Order: sequence, then structure tokens, then C-alpha cells
Amino acid sequence: MGLSVEVQLANLAGTAAFAQLIAPQLQADDWLLLEGEMGSGKTTLVRHLVAALGGNADAVSSPSYALMNAYVARLPVWHVDAWRLHDDEGFAALGLDDLAAGGLVIVEWPSRIPELANLSCAWRLHLRSFGGDERAAKLSVPLGRPMPDLPPLLPASASAPVAMP
Ligand SMILES: Nc1ncnc2c1ncn2[C@@H]1O[C@H](COP(=O)(O)OP(=O)(O)OP(=O)(O)O)[C@@H](O)[C@H]1O
Ligand SMILES: [Mg+2]
Repeated sequence: MGLSVEVQLANLAGTAAFAQLIAPQLQADDWLLLEGEMGSGKTTLVRHLVAALGGNADAVSSPSYALMNAYVARLPVWHVDAWRLHDDEGFAALGLDDLAAGGLVIVEWPSRIPELANLSCAWRLHLRSFGGDERAAKLSVPLGRPMPDLPPLLPASASAPVAMP
């Protein structure tokens, strides 16, 4: 596992700013594994990432039913939601190894896909919600890749963080 850092996202603008800061670091054949409970903001982050990659944010939707969406951006983006995958067969049926060539693969609920557990060449992001619009984002970069320059609080202009109960 590579370097990791935790960033506080004060609100939706913080999530958008976070997406803009990491998007330039994402390359073809990268995997981005998005952990976090329901409503923690995984799909919302994907929407901002696709926009930051030059794609159409409005094209982004939760692929819970379709299992996988494809978006056109600076590099092709494959968006998987593993919530409904219950066995290896489901994952294999996606044919991701072929599809991923030259693109970015983003997976929500990666813990449901055993094959992804030990992927050392993946970006891992764990989002946590505290009830309001604030989120904590723990980012791990792929082995051998530099950590993006991230301030501890986003947006950088946000006022001092509200104390957690
Ligand atoms: N700072 C924030 N970052 C992301 N989402 C936020 C933030 N503040 C509020 N929200 C809201 O929280 C909700 C997050 O929903 P979203 O569908 O992105 O979650 P998810 O993690 O993908 O859930 P699921 O596991 O069901 O797919 C949205 O309604 C979004 O507007
Ligand atoms: Mg989602």
C-alpha cells in the first residue's frame, strides 16, 4: 500500500474541490476503489471527478442496477457499483480486465469483490459522513505514485471546522 492522508470535506464544495485536486493524477489503467457507507457520497464524488476529467457530470448516475456505466472524458471512465454483485461470476461477467485497458475504473463497494482486496496498484478512498454535509476522506495512493498536494480542509476557504460531538 502506498501513502495515505485524511482530508476533511466541509460540504459539497469541498468534495468538488477534492475531485479537482486528485483528477489530474488519475491515469489510464488506474483503479479507484470507493469505500464508505450508503449516502457517504461515493457517486457524488464520481460526478465531480468526471467533470474534473472533462466529462459530463450529468451523465453520471448510480450504476446499482446496470452494474456498470461508461463515461467519455479525458480518459474513458468505467463506473461499477458492486453492491449488487454477490459472487465472483458477477464480477467476471463484467469483463473489466478487457474494458479497463486505457481507462479509469471506479468501483463503489469494492469490498464485495474479493479480487480487489489486495490490488496494490489501486487508489483507495474511504468516505465517512457525520450526518450533515461534512465528510472525511481517507485517500491511499497506488504504490510508487506521489500523493496529490491536499490541504487538510476543503474548500480551503471554509471557516474553521465545526467541532464534532
Ligand atoms: N460533502 C458532501 N460530499 C458528498 N455528498 C454530499 C456531501 N454533502 C451532502 N452530500 C449528499 O449526500 C448524498 C450522497 O449520496 P451518494 O449517492 O453520492 O452516496 P453513495 O455513497 O454513492 O451511496 P450508495 O452507497 O447508496 O451508492 C447526496 O445526496 C449528496 O448531495
Ligand atoms: Mg453510490
